[in-house]
Amino acid sequence: MTTTTHVKHDVKDLSLADQGKQRIDWAGREMPVLSQIQDRFAQETPLAGIRLVACCHVTTETAHLAIALKAAGADALLIASNPLSTQDDVAASLVVHHGISVYAQRGEDNATYHRHVQIALDHKPNIIIDDGSDVVATLVQERQHQLADLIGTTEETTTGIVRLRAMFNDGVLTFPAMNVNDADTKHFFDNRYGTGQSTLDGIIRATNVLLAGKTIVVAGYGWCGKGTALRARGMGANVIVTEIDPVRAIEATMDGFRVMPMALAASQGDIFITVTGNKHVIRAEHFEVMKDGAMVCNSGHFDIELDLKSLRDMASEVKQVRNFTEEYRLKTGKSVVVLGEGRLVNLAAAEGHPSAVMDMSFANQALACEYLVKNRGVLEPGLHSIPTELDQEIARLKLQAMGIALDTLTPEQVEYVNSWTMGT
Ligand code: ADE
Repeated sequence: MTTTTHVKHDVKDLSLADQGKQRIDWAGREMPVLSQIQDRFAQETPLAGIRLVACCHVTTETAHLAIALKAAGADALLIASNPLSTQDDVAASLVVHHGISVYAQRGEDNATYHRHVQIALDHKPNIIIDDGSDVVATLVQERQHQLADLIGTTEETTTGIVRLRAMFNDGVLTFPAMNVNDADTKHFFDNRYGTGQSTLDGIIRATNVLLAGKTIVVAGYGWCGKGTALRARGMGANVIVTEIDPVRAIEATMDGFRVMPMALAASQGDIFITVTGNKHVIRAEHFEVMKDGAMVCNSGHFDIELDLKSLRDMASEVKQVRNFTEEYRLKTGKSVVVLGEGRLVNLAAAEGHPSAVMDMSFANQALACEYLVKNRGVLEPGLHSIPTELDQEIARLKLQAMGIALDTLTPEQVEYVNSWTMGT
């Protein structure tokens, strides 16, 4: 294994590199689809000469994406998409063992985070892989003159897609953006089973509480909320769902959950998890009526879902009681416990989604980058779905790796599904 430290970087501690490599190798065992894509990329170098910026959670899984992009020939630079999610050993290994520029330090302050975004844009990217749309939004707001360099972008998460739609409606999305989040092989698995498992993992690692018998309130019943509620029930919790969308509220009800407004749920929950993508979902009026010792956390992309400023104003004391666990003692005498500073609890207190689902998410990212290059100058500005053939190909490769075979249609069945004349 060659080692190098001469690429530019801002990581915490290069001496962690070997530990990072060991953990990256471990994750690779569960990422067969991305590994096959990497092998092909190494042969075909579809991203040769492409300057690429990836703004992602710097985890063992992202390491495999970055390595695949480099194998494809990209001049790749990686920055953190969240100040609290970076795995410092992984960042070090990418620099030392793979010669990839990484700008990410766990616990970096907001100023450093934004400085890293600027460094990423100084790379003059042809492609941006974004997770939350901070890099793309900064490019559009501050560096219009660089848009000529841009082939397109890809977006990993629901929150980023919402922002891109808003940009499109404002007439400023003047380049193609690939919607990775909405690929079937992404959100059905990553958002649902990835968030479901890793959110509970974060809560358990932070607190070691027993979930069985607890009342867990899940705010939001999108794919992340569905997975979180499902897994919380699986652990024996009584789950309440809050929603603003009538169809999703019916869905949650028929999935067997109690649905009610947060105003009612607030006094009933032992643990609250926000996964809505919106701000101040839990605020002063809710904190006021919570049980003593109630725990609150967030698994939505940004740290805006809990109104922590109001909670701080209501508190006479805030103290850290465990890693990633702070107790706010309220002036009323009760306490509210906040996990992971209100940032993504699954990445702050645990390791994010397991590798097996990120395998498909990042296969989508890798193929989306290749697709952008192949269709350079052809794609219209705006949001583009991942082509169904790519989505299906990822599913087929995953099934193959899992040793699961499909049925195939008989010729008679093919004829039947393609005809409309045969009825009753
Ligand atoms: N988002 C959620 N989980 C993740 C992971 N393990 N790696 C990168 N991004 C993620």
